[in-house]
Amino acid sequence: MKMFYSQIVRSMSTTVRMPQIKKLVVIGGGQMGAGIAQISAATGHNVIICDVNDDVLKKSKATIEKSLQRVVMKKYADDAEKGKAFISETMSRIQTSTDTKSSVKDVDLVLEAIVENLEIKRDLFKDLDAVAPQHTIFASNTSSLPIREIASSTSRQDRFGGVHFFNPVPMMKLVEVIKAPNTSQETFDSLYAWGQALGKTVVSCKDTPGFLVNRLLVPYLLEAVRLYERGDGSMEDIDTAMKLGAGYPMGPFQLLDYVGLDTSKFIIAGWHEGDPNNPLFNPSPLLDRLVAEGKLGVKTGEGFYKYGKK
Ligand code: 3HC
Repeated sequence: MKMFYSQIVRSMSTTVRMPQIKKLVVIGGGQMGAGIAQISAATGHNVIICDVNDDVLKKSKATIEKSLQRVVMKKYADDAEKGKAFISETMSRIQTSTDTKSSVKDVDLVLEAIVENLEIKRDLFKDLDAVAPQHTIFASNTSSLPIREIASSTSRQDRFGGVHFFNPVPMMKLVEVIKAPNTSQETFDSLYAWGQALGKTVVSCKDTPGFLVNRLLVPYLLEAVRLYERGDGSMEDIDTAMKLGAGYPMGPFQLLDYVGLDTSKFIIAGWHEGDPNNPLFNPSPLLDRLVAEGKLGVKTGEGFYKYGKK
């Protein structure tokens, strides 16, 4: 297999002096946080999921168990005992807590997957910076906020990077690792190696809006909404066209509903504010209206399409 020079240099540097991530805290037990905790535990890492209340944490563990059962149905189709053992071993590596400050006291990585709000993320990391060990790396799973702006609330900007996962985390094979201007090479290498240890393919990204995937995906999704708003095609036809004509697993409206309309609206609004003259970042009146009506997609039972009760 061909290796590029940069990959050889990276693999050499990763074997030398980077701290290995073995134990981590995932902050936020929602869809993304639960998925990240699941794949971490399934690959031998010890994880603590932190969230504001026990109900959320209970739901996270239930989501993980359900997802593991789907994994096991495939992976251990011929060996039910092995499948059972895999689930119980994975679950035994997952703890939950509502006490974030105590949880970070002896971990190698703190990964945040909470609400997309810059001030809330900055405050969270500022508080944790005071109590986490020196060697602990901080990382954000933000979809669209600048990593450097989250990191600058801490005194460890060199040990701060981005690790961006995709929904559904157990199924999507990619992870983006983001090197902000102050992220040290060692930190970047540790996060890169951790992404690989999770069984994902890792791509390196700069700290630019949307990194690689969302920078291309979100304007495409918004353009699909504009196409529909102009009356140039029905939602069903646009979805069918992209699935069968471009080989996408979901059409744009299905994917918008799956990701959450609030998330997509938030991403585009932030980019529009930063670059109001870029037509790719124009907000969509239809998307805004659906969000205002609380129709956020699959999670609320209705978005562009209607779903069964959630
Ligand atoms: N856990 C475990 N297994 C899962 C799973 C989960 N959460 N979700 C799906 N699966 C498995 C199923 O068990 C099934 O396994 P099988 O092939 O052995 O039967 C397989 O995945 C396929 O699932 P389904 O048959 O239910 O449905 P699909 O074939 O439509 O696949 C999908 C589901 C994997 C979600 C696929 O539709 C897909 O890849 N969609 C695109 C998703 C995408 O683009 N995600 C990125 C969004 S952008 C993002 O997240 C970034 C953020 O910043 C906005």
